[in-house]
Amino acid sequence: MNKDKISIVILAAGKGSRMKSSKAKVLHSISGKPMLYHIIKASRELSNDITVVIAHQKEAVQKQMQSYFDDINFVIQDAENFPGTGGAMKNIAPKNEKVLVLNGDMPLITAKALEGFLHNDADIIMSIFDLQNPDGYGRVIIEKNHVQKIVEQKDATELELQVSTVNAGIYAFSKEVIEKYIPLLKNNNAQKEYYLTDVISMARMDGLKISPLLVDEEHFKGVNSKKDLADAEEIMQNRIKTEWMNAGVIMQLPQTTYIEESVAFEGECIVENGCRITGKSCIINSHIKAGSVIEESIVKNSDVGPMAHLRPASEIEDTHIGNFVEIKKSTLKGVKAGHLSYIGDAEVGEGTNIGAGTITCNYDGIKKYKTIIGKNVFIGSDSQLVAPVIIEDDVMIAAGTTVSSGTVAKGSLAISRTKLRIVQDFYYKFFNKNNTKI
Ligand code: UD1
Ligand code: MG
Repeated sequence: MNKDKISIVILAAGKGSRMKSSKAKVLHSISGKPMLYHIIKASRELSNDITVVIAHQKEAVQKQMQSYFDDINFVIQDAENFPGTGGAMKNIAPKNEKVLVLNGDMPLITAKALEGFLHNDADIIMSIFDLQNPDGYGRVIIEKNHVQKIVEQKDATELELQVSTVNAGIYAFSKEVIEKYIPLLKNNNAQKEYYLTDVISMARMDGLKISPLLVDEEHFKGVNSKKDLADAEEIMQNRIKTEWMNAGVIMQLPQTTYIEESVAFEGECIVENGCRITGKSCIINSHIKAGSVIEESIVKNSDVGPMAHLRPASEIEDTHIGNFVEIKKSTLKGVKAGHLSYIGDAEVGEGTNIGAGTITCNYDGIKKYKTIIGKNVFIGSDSQLVAPVIIEDDVMIAAGTTVSSGTVAKGSLAISRTKLRIVQDFYYKFFNKNNTKI
């Protein structure tokens, strides 16, 4: 792919009022990344000259995108005087003769889906699809086998609203077309905006060659509302999970699991139903059982869950994590933590068993502290380890013990219990005295 042949402009300056959100529309996330991120990622496979047009919340949009990409040009739209998708094209300066224009609300686009725009030398190539429910899209009016114009929903007549062929919102223009027609756009329409789509009818009247390209909603869906966001998420999730299943991951009821685009699997993995795996998590030869949540963690040769929670920066290797166990920012190698525990800011060594109900008390209300647990340690149920604390190798901690700070030396037993007292027949005496019927 010669990336110096085409320039790409992504329109991301709009308010996105239909999202009903204080956050800019293009920053809403799909599979863990802002919508605009997905579009730039696909664009970079095709071009070295990418311009993103911004205005609404421009600092936030630019800052977030610069955290992912360092080679994007940003142009600020004069949205006050020139609102609309046509207004957004006013100050761009693409390097190449061919310019692909993408809407910033199309997170499902891929480089492959855009290939049709590259191998076509018409003056304008525009994307269209047919929809049973064209609501919200611009209608494409075709007469005598030629595209005549695009009519926005808000400007359409009753008859035009019946048209099911819609503008998908991606166009390839020659640089001359942009230079000639963008300055001629007018805002005499229902929204008082400069519509990029009006370039089509002007070019048509001048006899330019307009080539419609039939595309699919699966890749070209525009996100305007929270419902669209949810629908696009479902498509993206299907795509991500299908890829991992093709790579050899077993997924039970995959439609119930959410996996972000930054997650990676290696070797043979099983993900049971209802899991959520996010951030830069990496799952290697492991079994993630039903209902588990894994955030930004590494799981290697281990089994996790059902219903376990690995919070960010956990590293689990050769380890068994059972139900209702929460791990945060901890390293566990060759460990068993079978039931109902909280392990936070800890390092746990090989051969160690963590009994049910064990808690690392890592927070004193002001600061967080570390718990270091050595090898072959046996921690009895319902123990609290008050950090900072070091449990050396081969230590036994009796059930119900509170280890409050310091170091438990290698090979020791730690036990903190009040002596057990058994008072015979106490039950009967207590209830008779209180005149209570048993
Ligand atoms: C647009 C098209 C419509 C098409 C649909 C496909 C126009 C006038 N209409 O409508 O024909 O069917 O996309 O999804 O182009 N933007 C700016 N500056 C602005 C306004 C918008 O940069 O002043 C950006 C937005 O951030 C967004 C994109 O342009 O990423 C599209 O804007 P949006 O308001 O979503 O247009 P639609 O109504 O969806
Ligand atoms: Mg839109």
